[in-house]
Amino acid sequence: MAGFLDQIEPLKQTAIAELRAAADLAALEQTKGAWTGPHGQFTALMKQLGTLSKEEKPAAGKLINAAKVEIEAALVSRRGELELKAALPKEPTDFTLPGRRRALGKLHPLTQVTDDIVRAFRKIGFAVADGPEIEDEYYCFDALNTPADHPARDSQDTFYLASKTGGISSSPAGAGEGWGEGSGEKPFLLRTHTSSVQIRVMEKQPPPVRIIVPGRVYRRDNADATHNPTFHQIEGLYVDKNVTVGDLKGTVEFVFRELMGSDVKIRFRPHYFSYTEPSYEIDFTNALVKKMGKDWLEIAGCGMVHPQVFETVGYDPAVWTGWAFGFGIERIAMLRYGINDIRLFYENDVRFLRQF
Ligand code: DAH
Repeated sequence: MAGFLDQIEPLKQTAIAELRAAADLAALEQTKGAWTGPHGQFTALMKQLGTLSKEEKPAAGKLINAAKVEIEAALVSRRGELELKAALPKEPTDFTLPGRRRALGKLHPLTQVTDDIVRAFRKIGFAVADGPEIEDEYYCFDALNTPADHPARDSQDTFYLASKTGGISSSPAGAGEGWGEGSGEKPFLLRTHTSSVQIRVMEKQPPPVRIIVPGRVYRRDNADATHNPTFHQIEGLYVDKNVTVGDLKGTVEFVFRELMGSDVKIRFRPHYFSYTEPSYEIDFTNALVKKMGKDWLEIAGCGMVHPQVFETVGYDPAVWTGWAFGFGIERIAMLRYGINDIRLFYENDVRFLRQF
């Protein structure tokens, strides 16, 4: 019996020492087998327990169990060490290497330009308004003094929806959730300009009005370097008493100087729009335009709100006056960044987008 008990301690010590010395996980598992596996040395010792007398067994059993717990603890601790070692990089770490930079996303150039335009108008008291892209023919044309037989409609051909409820949406509210249901009798189409929002805003609120409307518009155009079937506009509408063309010109000039620098010059050229009288096209020039070999670039349409439009929305044209304009946002962005093909904006090629 004494001989048996004496064996426990040195065997345990050796087992623990060998486990601690295991160089890797495979060696550790092998050592474990050699001690506590079915044919292990420690297992053999435990088997001898059966040969002891009834009196000897309890003391020997207690000792041997305590030794087994210690061996197992040594195994678990060495396994933890070796697992950590295996997970660490094989090569030494070079702390002088430059860190990995996280790539930051940024706003699309069209969004940046839109934000800048909105910021400039906010400075002089304009609020942003919004309207549906799936629009009713009434808001897009009729209410803007452009009846069905009006030649001005030809230049703004667009995509019509197959039925009033549309192939696009199953409910008339699809014409713009939250925007009401349109006039109730005119077909739906994809809006050709943001001017439709002038009508929607004036219908809902009494004058004075001072809004801008950035948004996406659609035309039945083929894509080329300067055209795309979808593009973006920003509409402006100002209605109050005694509003003049001078206010319009001053406002447009202020915004373009904010956007493009103080060397900007603006020119108003007589034009025709059915919802303004008189109407103008706005030409723009600065050093950049000159560099392109041009004297002026056409940049927007505008004019004094036509009395018929006021009548249509229930404003008294004898009391209220106002002006409106519409810019193409792509045009301004192309000018600002020197981009020569509008399609680059929509391809979402990061090599292009990263530059802005
Ligand atoms: N809606 C016109 C277009 O898309 C631009 C425009 C011209 C807007 C005159 C206006 C305006 O508000 O008064 O070409």
